[in-house]
Amino acid sequence: METLAFQVKSKIREGPEAATLLLETADGSIPAYKAGQFLTLIISKGGRELRRSYSICSSPGQPLAITVRRVVNGEVSRWLVDEILPGQWLNSLPPAGKFILETRPKDSRLIFFIVAGSGIVPVVPLLRQLLAEEPRSRAVLIYQNRDQDHILFNESLLDMEARWGSRLQRIILLSRPMGKGNIPHRLTNLLLEQLIRSQDNGMGETLFYLCGPAGFMRMCQFTLSMMGYAPTQIRKEFFSAPLAPGAPSDIDRTPRNITLFLQGQTRQLVCSYPDTILQAARRQHILLPYSCGGGVCSSCMVKCLEGRVRMSINEVLGPAEIREGWVLTCVGYPQTDLVLRY
Ligand SMILES: Cc1cc2nc3c(=O)[nH]c(=O)nc-3n(C[C@H](O)[C@H](O)[C@H](O)COP(=O)(O)OP(=O)(O)OC[C@H]3O[C@@H](n4cnc5c(N)ncnc54)[C@H](O)[C@@H]3O)c2cc1C
Ligand code: FES
Repeated sequence: METLAFQVKSKIREGPEAATLLLETADGSIPAYKAGQFLTLIISKGGRELRRSYSICSSPGQPLAITVRRVVNGEVSRWLVDEILPGQWLNSLPPAGKFILETRPKDSRLIFFIVAGSGIVPVVPLLRQLLAEEPRSRAVLIYQNRDQDHILFNESLLDMEARWGSRLQRIILLSRPMGKGNIPHRLTNLLLEQLIRSQDNGMGETLFYLCGPAGFMRMCQFTLSMMGYAPTQIRKEFFSAPLAPGAPSDIDRTPRNITLFLQGQTRQLVCSYPDTILQAARRQHILLPYSCGGGVCSSCMVKCLEGRVRMSINEVLGPAEIREGWVLTCVGYPQTDLVLRY
């Protein structure tokens, strides 16, 4: 399994709860990545290995940076925001993720970015990319936050608005705004529908990028489908994985042989019920990439060249990828012998 080592070059506070870490490899090279992708940090604490993903807030070609928001009682986020110091090293999987944008310079699209809290992190590079590479397209950012102090990247967003004018519409909603007379706004189904209708005249292609807490994502998804938008128009990035549901009770329980093509090597393993492919590999000391363990991040995706895999949950692979044979090992159960290629 390929891993990267990054030194923290600097740490910049972003409001009361977050920090941006600027990361550099030993030889100063910048790994290839796309706007909207994330790093999965691998951290050893008390003899345990913890993996946490953090979206990249920089744009391709710029020095790599991630922004972390402290989670109450969170094991890794508190350490990254409050304790880690410049000079310390972090291990990571290579950049990954499918919350990306294929720009089409001749198109004229309307793209809504609907985010809450740290959900803004992957969206900032996506906005930069869209505005720079698709000159006829427009972006609408709907950003729910607590109060003025907690708005991440406020200055970058203001700069972008000044630079791109009416091509970027910025709608900031504060649930507990500071200052007398400021009215609290919380994104509800009704408000979201009103905001979308006020921007979308139905003339061109419309896309939606959603990133925020699980309940917020559910509300947005439900509203969009009630408004008649198709699932293919919606891209989602979940920051937290639901507990994986476990092995479905009605699957084939025969132990299956798996052939893995991984970094130029061929490995064999046996997967027995109720292990997922990832669990079986770990049990047999074969290290495969993964992060969330709950079917939401795509770090563990692999191409199934032969055989059938049943996934207990899948929030990230689209129908086209499934047709091409991609599967998630963290929630995948072999239904036949398999040949998998990374
Ligand atoms: C693709 C992706 C991209 C992401 N990008 C970002 C990003 O850009 N910025 C960002 O800040 N975050 C991001 N995240 C979220 C991040 O990966 C972490 O999940 C987050 O930082 C919390 O990790 P933690 O170790 O601090 O919290 P954890 O220790 O995992 O705890 C999370 C919560 O669960 C509770 N908890 C933990 N264990 C228990 C238990 N046994 N019983 C009850 N409650 C418990 C904790 O109290 C806490 O509230 C991303 C996640 C994904 C999947
Ligand atoms: S590890 Fe995140 S989807 Fe499998």
